[in-house]
Amino acid sequence: MDMVVSSRALDRVADFPGIPGGWAYLDTAATAQKPRAVIDAIARGYGESYATVHRGVYQRSAEMTLAFEASRERVAAFVGAPSADEIVFVRGATEAINLVAQSWGGGSFKPGDRIMLSTLEHHSNIVPWQMIAGRMGAEIDVAPLTQDGRIDLDAMAGMLTTRHKMVALAHVSNVLGSVLDARRAADLAHHVGAKLLLDGCQAVPRMPVDVAALGCDFYVFSGHKLYGPTGIGVLWGRAELLDAMLPVQGGGAMIDKVTFAGTTYAPPPARFEAGTPHVVGVLGLHAAIDYVDDIGLNAIHAHESALVRETRDALASLNSVHLFGPGDSAGIVSFVIQGVHPHDIGTILDEERVAIRAGHHCAQPLMAYLGVDATARASFGVYNNQQDVAALVCGIERVTRIFG
Ligand SMILES: Cc1ncc(COP(=O)(O)O)c(C=O)c1O
Repeated sequence: MDMVVSSRALDRVADFPGIPGGWAYLDTAATAQKPRAVIDAIARGYGESYATVHRGVYQRSAEMTLAFEASRERVAAFVGAPSADEIVFVRGATEAINLVAQSWGGGSFKPGDRIMLSTLEHHSNIVPWQMIAGRMGAEIDVAPLTQDGRIDLDAMAGMLTTRHKMVALAHVSNVLGSVLDARRAADLAHHVGAKLLLDGCQAVPRMPVDVAALGCDFYVFSGHKLYGPTGIGVLWGRAELLDAMLPVQGGGAMIDKVTFAGTTYAPPPARFEAGTPHVVGVLGLHAAIDYVDDIGLNAIHAHESALVRETRDALASLNSVHLFGPGDSAGIVSFVIQGVHPHDIGTILDEERVAIRAGHHCAQPLMAYLGVDATARASFGVYNNQQDVAALVCGIERVTRIFG
């Protein structure tokens, strides 16, 4: 397939009421703006379609239940899951990883077991593992990075042992944009009998994902980075793993039978979805998936890759700019400017109507490894174009002039 298409080939800014003319929104890795189709689906969900799910005997609730479960089917198809019963709706990737750590980890780890993470993980894929490791007496290892900022799978292969029970890695780095060779990571994990969890937050909005082809065991992502609503996310887990896991939250909707003598639980996914779910968020997620699928993930990937290349080429020609990450980063460019704090870069760019993220990006161990407190990060979405890159580069040139 020819992945090299002009970044002009995809310019969907008109679909996004949140992006006024002349504003370069380059913070999609934090959260994506919402297309009209998603906003309309949410408005309908809270308007003429609104009702609860799974309980109502009246028609509106029955229809809402059908729509809710249709979204689950849609998510399953979107990520190549064999069954919709393997899709658990959660608040976001953070909640999904905490669920796996507490439930799967709480049921599986023994003292002396090991968990493999990497230097570039988001805090959401570090802290939940530290919490469960502390409780269960497990230890954490950290796979290093290659020179250009990828998880070094050769090094990881040499570190993995049969004590490792879980390998949890970012599919795409939220700072460097580097893409994991997920299939190889799965083979390495399985070779020592470990499970592989992939944090797909930055992958699902930028490239096609097929969990069956990747061979992972758990896959997590957040709806709001995929042009969908906040407060909704997805945990995919292999059926046999979910079946063996205990719930971490109890309440309505997750039970089979409740008596004061004891409670039995519903099968997955209901077992992990205690309480009234984020019904409208699930509908919005469905609309978001329809939206990106209609454009095509291959086209989105090619579009963002072209914008990354243009940005990196332009910034590399400025002496004081230091770029991080590989040249084939998926939609994300992190950099620093010598002698300028990233917050100052962000503030000056904001005056130029360019919105970027400046900070540690919830990846403090990665910042320590890179030898910085923070970076500036530009990240792209379907609404960005070459004018946005030009505005960014122009703004950076102004920053370098101001700071001499
Ligand atoms: C790679 C990665 N993992 C996890 C998260 C956490 O996502 P959320 O805050 O939506 O749970 C993010 C969000 O920044 C991310 O980029």
